[in-house]
Amino acid sequence: MSKIVILTGAGISAESGIETFRAEDGLWAQHRVEDVATSEGFARDPAMVVNFYNARRKQAANATPNAAHKALAKLQQLYAGQVVIITQNVDDLHERGGSRDVLHMHGALNSALCVACEHRWPAAMTMAPGDACPKCSAPAARPDIVWFGEMPYDIDAIFDHLAQASIFAAIGTSGNVYPAAGFVAEAHRTGAHTVELNLERSAVGGQFAEHRTGPATRVVSEWVEELLAKPVQPRDSFK
Ligand code: OAD
Repeated sequence: MSKIVILTGAGISAESGIETFRAEDGLWAQHRVEDVATSEGFARDPAMVVNFYNARRKQAANATPNAAHKALAKLQQLYAGQVVIITQNVDDLHERGGSRDVLHMHGALNSALCVACEHRWPAAMTMAPGDACPKCSAPAARPDIVWFGEMPYDIDAIFDHLAQASIFAAIGTSGNVYPAAGFVAEAHRTGAHTVELNLERSAVGGQFAEHRTGPATRVVSEWVEELLAKPVQPRDSFK
């Protein structure tokens, strides 16, 4: 069966009004990564970290999926093969745009995690430091976000998908954060056609066979329509 594996990053949600990380005025220009995206930062100042993600959660809740999220959902529904979506994004705009089984490799804003027993539950819109775990009652809740130095989620499943991909696409990601930035090399090595859809060439842009440059709402919608209009390509035809 033909399999399309798609990696998305902050750029796909930019036109929904969600800030990216590495734009000049992006999140990492306003906050220190060490403060808000590491377990050491959380240990030092849990309130600051919880509030940072409360603000992200509120921004995501007020945003709506754009044409790019919806185009990927359409591809998942209509493509005569499998379409796997892996996202580095912690918002739920893929799901609200109609996609299913999205792999959130960097965690999710709508999930809380107990540091004591690893139980997960739907996060309150406003979390507070020391919120109790509903399972073990420890005052040990944290946002269920993968911070720097922690292992991304679903990595074994992701590498299995990459090994089986006919097409690998990266959408709206700057190629600065590993392991996600290494997926193109892995997909290329195992025989996939690789395509980057982004406003500009990313840090790993040279590794892609094809580029589609422009805003995600336009380039993703056009790419999806082309894929749906073509007969499904057997995996070997791209080699
Ligand atoms: P970045 O902010 O690093 O990159 C966003 C990319 O999207 C850039 O290459 C932009 O050019 C592009 N872009 C912006 N607007 C776009 C649009 N309308 N259409 C298409 N492309 C657009 O975000 P990520 O690559 O997702 O991790 O960042 C990866 C990880 O770094 C994040 O998951 C986060 C961050 O630190 C953690 O917090 C663990």
